[in-house]
Amino acid sequence: MSAIQKPRGQWSSKIAFIFAAAGSAVGLGNIWRFPYVTGENGGGAFVFLYLLVIVLLGFPVMLLELSMGRASEKNPVGAFRVLRPGSPWVFVGFMGVLTGIAILSYYTVIAGWTIAYLIKSINMDLDPKAFGNFIADIPQQITYFLLFLLASVGVVAGGVKDGIERITRVLMPVLIGLMVLLIIRSVTLEGALSGLEFYLVPDFSKVSARTFIYAIGQGFFSLSLGMGAMITYGSYISKDDNLVSSGAYVCLFDTVIALMAGLIIFPALASAGQAPEAGFTLVFDVLISLFNQMPLGSFVAIIFFFLLSIAALTSTISLVEVATAYLVDERNLPRGSAVLIVAGVTAVLGIPCALSLGGSDFFTHLLPLGNGQYKSFLGIMDFVFGNMALSLGALLLCIFVVYSWKVSSAVKEISSGNPGFQRWAIYWLVALKYVAPLAIAAILIYMVVTGQTLS
Ligand code: PHE
Repeated sequence: MSAIQKPRGQWSSKIAFIFAAAGSAVGLGNIWRFPYVTGENGGGAFVFLYLLVIVLLGFPVMLLELSMGRASEKNPVGAFRVLRPGSPWVFVGFMGVLTGIAILSYYTVIAGWTIAYLIKSINMDLDPKAFGNFIADIPQQITYFLLFLLASVGVVAGGVKDGIERITRVLMPVLIGLMVLLIIRSVTLEGALSGLEFYLVPDFSKVSARTFIYAIGQGFFSLSLGMGAMITYGSYISKDDNLVSSGAYVCLFDTVIALMAGLIIFPALASAGQAPEAGFTLVFDVLISLFNQMPLGSFVAIIFFFLLSIAALTSTISLVEVATAYLVDERNLPRGSAVLIVAGVTAVLGIPCALSLGGSDFFTHLLPLGNGQYKSFLGIMDFVFGNMALSLGALLLCIFVVYSWKVSSAVKEISSGNPGFQRWAIYWLVALKYVAPLAIAAILIYMVVTGQTLS
């Protein structure tokens, strides 16, 4: 069925789009992944590189995805079919849909923790020593995972306007308000200063190739780029809206929230005398012990986990939406059946992820790294899809726009709603033709050559 026969849903206003896209971007990537990756990669210097990545790579690719989406009014697969009919580029679209489902499968497991910990904090049952047992508890991991998946697909089943927009419109401002409260609490704790210093004062001696790899991967992950989420969300934008300012707001929102999350977490960690390199478990494990040592800690914990589950939900919604839009647009499935299929595939992939934090020895110790450490199924999924596939996807998107679809077509699309863009187009071209592809290609090649693919 063509787009003409079937009227396509649209955001009710520009601001509704910004909320929804920011809802996709803002999530566990900002509040859980950004602080822990920053902690592992040296603090302030990483933050500095990350900001460069957002401006030089993130924003240009954001604009690219939004223009492809609005020009084609399609999901990632359909977008390539419309913009370059019959070309092999459509595989980049398929890769995006698959990457989305793969990210969804492990992301939802971690999102499930947010509900579990919300319930635990309401029951005043926050025991830092229980974290390891909790993530290894098979029935609990599977239950919370499925619960979160159900919530995400439930919203998407409601359709673009009714589902995604309604929830993000209300929740984004709440999220920001709650984070401001938490920052005030955190920076006024005793001993918070050294945490702020670690986080905000760059120490460039800590920068290595790894710092770049993680800054780039984190940038795409956090902005939901490289797999077509923003192509899909862009497809619902009206032709009169300004893609440049909308895209810029989303990047700004996402970055401010990530920076705010750091302002909550690092001072709090320093105050509790904890190391910032706690890794994967930073937010859940270390903060729980912190909440326990804080005045009004259980109240703060309720706010925090509430906030985190909302942020995660608005992101999982966008991941579900990409594959759903593909099945609806390209396979002509009714929205309800499309959502059911996405839920089914995600459940199958997500269960090994849910078992890979101690629940099953096999999935927990799937890949020996040679130094006595192992990569779990979930860890491999995050690295392969959350880092490599997104970077590769962004690289291929740049090549597609520069050499196949042509920057002039993209500029024409962006100029609808922003006639002044012509003047800036040259900077954008430089970013898409040189800066982003060279930076990403250099990193990917470096990783393959040095064999640093999984550590
Ligand atoms: N950007 C989301 C976050 O920060 C995760 C995400 C990645 C969502 C890719 C969609 C696509 O949590």
